[in-house]
Amino acid sequence: MSKENVIQSLRGMNDLTNEQSKLFTYFCENAAKIVKNYGFEYIETPILEKTSLFKRSVGESSDIVNKEMYQFIDKGENDVCLRPEGTAGVVRSFIQNKLDRAGGVKKWFYYGPMFRYEKPQKGRLREFHQFGVEVFGISSVYEDANIIMMLKEILDFFKIGHKIQLNSLGCKECMPPYKEKLIKHLNSFKDELCEDCNKRIETNPIRVLDCKVEKCQNLLKDAPKITDNLCSSCNTDFEKLKEILDFNEIEYEINTNLVRGLDYYSKTAFEFVSDEIGAQSAIAGGGRYDRLIEFLGGRETPGIGFAIGIERLLELVKMKEEQEDIYYVGALNEQALNQVVKVANLKRKTNKTFVEYSSRGFGKHFTLAEKNNANIVILIGEDELKTNTVYMKNIKTKEEKKVKVEEL
Ligand code: HAM
Repeated sequence: MSKENVIQSLRGMNDLTNEQSKLFTYFCENAAKIVKNYGFEYIETPILEKTSLFKRSVGESSDIVNKEMYQFIDKGENDVCLRPEGTAGVVRSFIQNKLDRAGGVKKWFYYGPMFRYEKPQKGRLREFHQFGVEVFGISSVYEDANIIMMLKEILDFFKIGHKIQLNSLGCKECMPPYKEKLIKHLNSFKDELCEDCNKRIETNPIRVLDCKVEKCQNLLKDAPKITDNLCSSCNTDFEKLKEILDFNEIEYEINTNLVRGLDYYSKTAFEFVSDEIGAQSAIAGGGRYDRLIEFLGGRETPGIGFAIGIERLLELVKMKEEQEDIYYVGALNEQALNQVVKVANLKRKTNKTFVEYSSRGFGKHFTLAEKNNANIVILIGEDELKTNTVYMKNIKTKEEKKVKVEEL
């Protein structure tokens, strides 16, 4: 038998249990509630997809596709991978179900695991969870503002401090000439830039702008900025977006080096960052991807969305005080156990309810109730059985009473 320790999860892949799992479900449920008010519906797409889907959408020059994919050949000789992000699968589903041909607007949200073979560290996992949204069929810049404000509403609900960074990545008219200009500029001090930057000048020059090496950042100070090189349509939209955000008193900063690590964006790009979570400061990111649907074979349809990295913000999520009563039901003698189960199931129709299957003394039941965070204790003994009542005590207010079972 192999000596390998099987009781150890893979590196960068964690269980979600105890406090973390409570926060996780609390986050997803409440974020879902918020986005449903904006007209979003739930979508679930497979975790495994064709590798080519991500190569074509996220882009072959991106680190995600190039270095970080959990990619393998399955038993049917198909080249597949665990999804590194959610947008590509949702777009695939949109096109596969011919919704691009149906016209109209589609708004979806999703949450689930994503996989990137990165070097694990705080806030950077190999399996992590995203809560994301995608909107199809709206080109108005008001939707860009709406999406940013919705994301802000989610983070505000959980009291998560953040800053908004904003950029425009132009379109097929203004991005190519800007890239040429940038390449020309970068080539003038190419030898001083790091190895990665040198590769990127060839494959994806705008990614040079967000190089993390300090020396490169210093050299890039005089680089041409995309926002100074937008075509008139992109410029009008970007100005309008800022105007709508200003009107709604949403604070943001323009970061012309914000290029995003995925190739499908055009026009609006944004990231929400926090300085409370360590080096991996991006809690959410997104933007417009008006060319992606057509690029993947669908009919030209505008798209925009974002994804939140759930693990990164879990430690910042503040749970609102539970308002609802939690019940604990127990028996004071063996004969009362059947009645206890019946009463507990009655209470479960309206409240979270714990039930204890062994008969115990008064004091022990209260200890168990507190262990389960219950605030209302229901106990049934000989007296209560005879009169078809229960003994009920509210631990916080100390109020005690007898209640008829039919009144529960
Ligand atoms: P992304 O910026 O690659 O965008 O990821 C979104 C968020 O996922 C990040 O801001 C971060 O919080 C979290 N995240 C990314 N990698 C990791 C990791 N290794 N460990 C923990 N958390 C991580 C996207 O994925 C796009 N699909 C967003 C989008 C949706 N754009 C349009 N629609």
